[in-house]
Amino acid sequence: MSQTKEIPLMEKIVSLCKRRGFIFQSSEIYGGINGFWDYGPLGAELKRNLRDTWWRAMTRDREDVVGLDATIIMHPAIWKASGHVDTFSDPMADCLVTKKRFRADHVEPQSGTVYSYVGAVGEEVPVDSTGCKALLNHVAKHLEIPAMNVPDLATEVRTLLSHPDATHEVEPLDNAVARIVGSVLESWRDEKFSVLLPAGKPPESARKVAIQFYTSRGLKNPALLGETTAKVENSRAFNPENGAQLTEPKPFNLMFHTFVGATASEDDRAYLRPETAQAIFAQFKNVVDSTRQKVPFGICQIGKAFRNEVTPRNFTFRSREFEQMELEFFIKPDEAVEAVCGSVAQWSESADLSAPQPNWGWEMWHRYWVAQRTAYYAGIGLGADVLDYFWQGKGDLAHYARACVDILFKFPFGTEELEGIAARGDFDLTAHQNACGKPLEVFDEEVKLAFAKWTPEQRAALVARKQNENSAKEKGVLPAEKIAEWCERLFKGFYVPHVIEPSAGLDRLALAVLTLAYTEIEKTDAKGNKETLTVMRFHPRIAPKKVAVFPLLKNKPELVAKARAIYDTLKKHVAADYDEGGSIGKRYARQDEAGTPFCVTVDFDTLGEKGPELLDTVTLRHRDDGSQERVKISDLPGRLLPLVS
Ligand code: GAP
Repeated sequence: MSQTKEIPLMEKIVSLCKRRGFIFQSSEIYGGINGFWDYGPLGAELKRNLRDTWWRAMTRDREDVVGLDATIIMHPAIWKASGHVDTFSDPMADCLVTKKRFRADHVEPQSGTVYSYVGAVGEEVPVDSTGCKALLNHVAKHLEIPAMNVPDLATEVRTLLSHPDATHEVEPLDNAVARIVGSVLESWRDEKFSVLLPAGKPPESARKVAIQFYTSRGLKNPALLGETTAKVENSRAFNPENGAQLTEPKPFNLMFHTFVGATASEDDRAYLRPETAQAIFAQFKNVVDSTRQKVPFGICQIGKAFRNEVTPRNFTFRSREFEQMELEFFIKPDEAVEAVCGSVAQWSESADLSAPQPNWGWEMWHRYWVAQRTAYYAGIGLGADVLDYFWQGKGDLAHYARACVDILFKFPFGTEELEGIAARGDFDLTAHQNACGKPLEVFDEEVKLAFAKWTPEQRAALVARKQNENSAKEKGVLPAEKIAEWCERLFKGFYVPHVIEPSAGLDRLALAVLTLAYTEIEKTDAKGNKETLTVMRFHPRIAPKKVAVFPLLKNKPELVAKARAIYDTLKKHVAADYDEGGSIGKRYARQDEAGTPFCVTVDFDTLGEKGPELLDTVTLRHRDDGSQERVKISDLPGRLLPLVS
């Protein structure tokens, strides 16, 4: 995905977030904790508004989606069955010099010259009582045996000691050889190490880093051994900050764990959920049994998720504690749709996705949810100009997944994922059904009746088609009897629903709307001085405060009383603010920075001083163009509420 260099803009946004109380670093008074963020007064309102718009769009406004609010810690068997215990990991690599940890697949690719060393010897080899330290150093410095090779070293020492200049006669040759070899080994590291230098940097820079590495391995003033060089292109094997070699990538499980109960033994190990989705699968049966929902229908949830990300980065974009907004939308398998409707609707660019149809299979449902989610984003100000889509290639999909698209947002640091929408087949419910031993199938009378009308030949043809599809798979091939069993259950009206999963990050969405809203405007004051002001152009629906009410002057009780009365009325309906401090210009600027779309000012006209026609009217000021109009106080709720809710 593309990367643009707009770091100064991000810095300005981060600074505004702190200054105006949108987002603070968690535990800041203790130096902060990497990957954790707190939302201040304005941020908490913004997040709440985003949460509410999502909840309304996904469940309140629909008849076919219900909500869930599950616990963060669940039975650890859930994470085993879902595959998270075994496979929810990122590749991790450490810098061999600074120990800084990187996500191996996120390291910026580097090109240049690699300087490699086979090892190093310390200058301070132990003093040799027989006076052959010089000899020892000679051995140490000139032996460039790639791997530690004691017999070769011993032969070399023996030859050197037999030289007429050697002064070892006080002890037998074999003793001297053994002792010197031991000393050299102690001061010698045969560990290989490499440094990548970008074009134009002097070799000394590489040697400096290599010396740091061997020093960290316990050598004093190491002399480098066996330097060789080679050119590389786009390598992720080196620390971009100092060029030092990284360790081989190792999988690092991202789940935070804890212990439930007083004994804190391994048997009590539990996990903080890394996604909210699994609770939906685990409670699927209860929701089906306690509501009148029938497939197709969905269960949605908003809640905290935790991932011990290797490298949290880009402000809140990749955090270790964050909130997800997830929907699991359960649908019939395509074969059931085919039985009921005669065929399954095929998706095409011109397909009508406005309202779900009975003949939709997974593909239409998947496209439908992409369209629904796109419409949701447009409704809070994230239009086609700031979104993009990344469709995973067939080869990159998990074996059970049919399709997966990421909705991307154009962040200042690059175009990155905001939400993933996956067609996951029946993988999740089947995995839990197998692991817990309880059926998670639904019974669908309509499907049973439809198959009852099929001839034995039609059924046999469906079984054969499923067997062929199964054996043609590259991954996840099932035993033939499982396919036959699945078909038999389907013919009787039983199936494990398939699922479409739109999964969005609330914190990423908050970051997206913050970066999109951030606007700078140049203003020239009465004295001709230029200043840059910040306006946060949030969509009114998600703005933290919808309206601010000001009396023109705070020392005029009639103005204050009127303004307070208007504020008291409006705050019953929307998040409102009251401000009487400073000039009106300053108060507008403060609200612009907070992103308040409307300001209401009570002035002397409101009191009827210019005539009865302006009595009980106020100035309504619009944030985005600064325009002002005169509005009756009694009209304010009617004017504002439809714009902000
Ligand atoms: N149940 C599917 C699932 O969790 P995901 O792509 O791993 O899929 C879904 O996560 C969404 O959650 C992402 O699109 C992103 O918005 C958000 N998300 C994931 N990891 C995050 C993190 N470390 N920090 C902030 N948001 C994150």
